[in-house]
Amino acid sequence: MVVKIYRSARSLTKKVFETKKRGKTIGLVPTMGFLHEGHMSLIRRARKDTDCVIVSIFVNPAQFGPKEDFKKYPRDFKMDFSLCEKENADIVFAPKAEEIYPENYVTYVNVEKITDTLCGASRPGHFRGVATVVAKLFNITMPDIAYFGQKDAQQAIVIKRMAEDLNMSVRIKVMPIVREKDGLAMSSRNVYLNLKERMQAQSISKSLKLAKELFDSGERNSGKIINKMKKVIDKQSEAKIDYMKIVDTKNLKDIQKISGKTLIAAAIWVGKTRLIDNIILN
Ligand code: PAF
Repeated sequence: MVVKIYRSARSLTKKVFETKKRGKTIGLVPTMGFLHEGHMSLIRRARKDTDCVIVSIFVNPAQFGPKEDFKKYPRDFKMDFSLCEKENADIVFAPKAEEIYPENYVTYVNVEKITDTLCGASRPGHFRGVATVVAKLFNITMPDIAYFGQKDAQQAIVIKRMAEDLNMSVRIKVMPIVREKDGLAMSSRNVYLNLKERMQAQSISKSLKLAKELFDSGERNSGKIINKMKKVIDKQSEAKIDYMKIVDTKNLKDIQKISGKTLIAAAIWVGKTRLIDNIILN
């Protein structure tokens, strides 16, 4: 199948209108490119569920802080495009920054409260950038279903909240984390890690695995679980904890005693690379 590339929002929306008129459903997989197995699982799911699969590839400047890795974020459009071909996507939407944020652009989407904690606390403005670009992608592509990865747990919760609060008629599907053999959650940023860092990066998933084991053996005290998780990271010379939290999956508030659906989320620095991971306890 031939994958069509769109650079212009207006012409993609025109195409979407035509597709919908023919009674076809649209699946959107928003990405920042440098696709890996995690993204592939979203595209495959969209291919199963919907008639027309759109993969957006856009490194969104609005979600990076001034000292963050926007410039060095890995990019490989050729590789991304051939992976989209392999997975039978219909459309790749790869706009230039000026297409999404033209001169005089001043409108942003701000999801409050649930963006003040976890990654939102460490990366001020990040979720404002994410919510804005995702809202724009929803308006441009009018998807029936949009697909996101569980690895960015807070992002998925923020986008669901935004869609509900703003009456967006899109279903959000969140797909499980895809991991490397040693447990490291797949991420485009994993390429930043050197060999030693790559070994130490395993500690984040190991700490979450330990948390699950503690929970399964009856531990419900968040403080005790977090202390033990922290010890796993502290053993690594190159790793530093950004946050480790046990929170309610709806409001992202800290939980002292675990009961009901709970998110354990962690972010660590390994050298200059920030990694995130999480598990849900039911
Ligand atoms: O998860 C990502 O890759 C990005 O945050 C997203 C959802 C594509 C928005 O830029």
